[in-house]
Amino acid sequence: MKRNREANGGPKRPPSNGYNRRFVFFSAGVASMGGFLFGYGTAVVSGALLFLEREFRFGPAMEGAVTAAVLLGALVGAIASGSLNDRFGRRVMLIVSAVVFASGSLIASFALRLLWLIVGRFIVGCAIGIASYTSPLYISETAPPRVRGGLVSLNQFSITVGIMAAYLVDFAYAYPGGWRWMFGLSVVPAAFLGMGMLFLPDTPDSLFSRGEEERAREALARIAAENLQAAGQARAPEKEKGTKVSWRELFEPPLRFPMAVGIGLAVFQQIVGINAVIYYAPTIFRHAGFGSAPVAVFATVGVGFVNVIVTLLAILLLDRLGRRPLLLAGTAGLSAALMALGLDFQGQWAERGTVAVVSLFAFIAFFAVSLGPIFWLMVSEIYPLRVRGRAMSVAAFSNWGANLLVAFTFPLLVSGTGESVPFWIYASMGVLAFFFSYFWAPETKGKSLREIEEHWTG
Ligand code: BGC
Repeated sequence: MKRNREANGGPKRPPSNGYNRRFVFFSAGVASMGGFLFGYGTAVVSGALLFLEREFRFGPAMEGAVTAAVLLGALVGAIASGSLNDRFGRRVMLIVSAVVFASGSLIASFALRLLWLIVGRFIVGCAIGIASYTSPLYISETAPPRVRGGLVSLNQFSITVGIMAAYLVDFAYAYPGGWRWMFGLSVVPAAFLGMGMLFLPDTPDSLFSRGEEERAREALARIAAENLQAAGQARAPEKEKGTKVSWRELFEPPLRFPMAVGIGLAVFQQIVGINAVIYYAPTIFRHAGFGSAPVAVFATVGVGFVNVIVTLLAILLLDRLGRRPLLLAGTAGLSAALMALGLDFQGQWAERGTVAVVSLFAFIAFFAVSLGPIFWLMVSEIYPLRVRGRAMSVAAFSNWGANLLVAFTFPLLVSGTGESVPFWIYASMGVLAFFFSYFWAPETKGKSLREIEEHWTG
């Protein structure tokens, strides 16, 4: 499969009544609330900063600390929860993440001192780190192969909606003290996730791998109305149980290759500069010549909107066209858009502002149809069951690490070298991402997780 470019290599289509549509869509919808927490939790701080600065009287260093706390928390949450995920299952971890998220949000929202604000944001980050990969994992293990791409990407859709919701809430509560609402309101989606998961079973794969065969069969029966085999979900439990894998084995054959693919996609997803745009869009627009702050903020909402709409398009295309064609077209397109931004900031065009807006929108659109959803999707598909939680947590950790690196270095690069250099760096990373995907990314469309696993393990 490694170099499999024939997109149609999957098994025969199961009959349309092969799975319980209502249950599968409902559980994917609930689990994808983890994505909403991810998007909201990371984006909400931008609108709060101004008011926080005034209230707590802090300078740029503390501003960085408040912003970075959530990313640091996510790093810790992602890596610390991998083994727990394989031991306690996806459902429990999603419930834990909802509770931790709500607690962190309340601490931040009621904070009377800066320290508590940072502690609260760090705790929120830990929860986001867990949910960031457990939500796609839960959906991937519940979804029938032929709709898995779209369903798992519901999570990415929720991330983008969460980002938009944060922008809108920030806008609505933009007055002194309103920041407490900005943070506090995120208890609502956390409650939806936690309570929703209480009523859902864990995934059949996760139950099987923990030896809970009876409950695994019950969960399977809820997913697959008739034809379990056709839905590609049936498993031989004996094979999965009691096979403990050490951390070292994750980086030895046969796991080394899928680990490298996951970590590579994780890092590329970030170092093409997506969050330089998501976190700093208003600043970029102002540098591009939009004098007034409201216009820059308006253009930022436009970025969020394009992200949501094009992610919807990706959901429709992923199971039709396959992962590879979208990944390749997307990385090529986003690299071109970044080059245009690099040139624009060098003063190549008189219409500087217009070119910046068009290029940024194009960049977001190409990201939203490729690296955005496909990284989280692929890492939820390519790992063998017995290491899936841990392997995904390593990929998520790499993603958050690269995210932190970009968020931290972008403002420094802009002030040190001007605006065009960072975009040229991101554009070169985009070109590398294209070749990485071309040579290494597998096509997983239509294949069951079982088939993908057998491919690696022979
Ligand atoms: C990325 C985030 C990014 C978001 C934007 C996600 O897939 O992991 O870092 O902010 O997409 O839509």
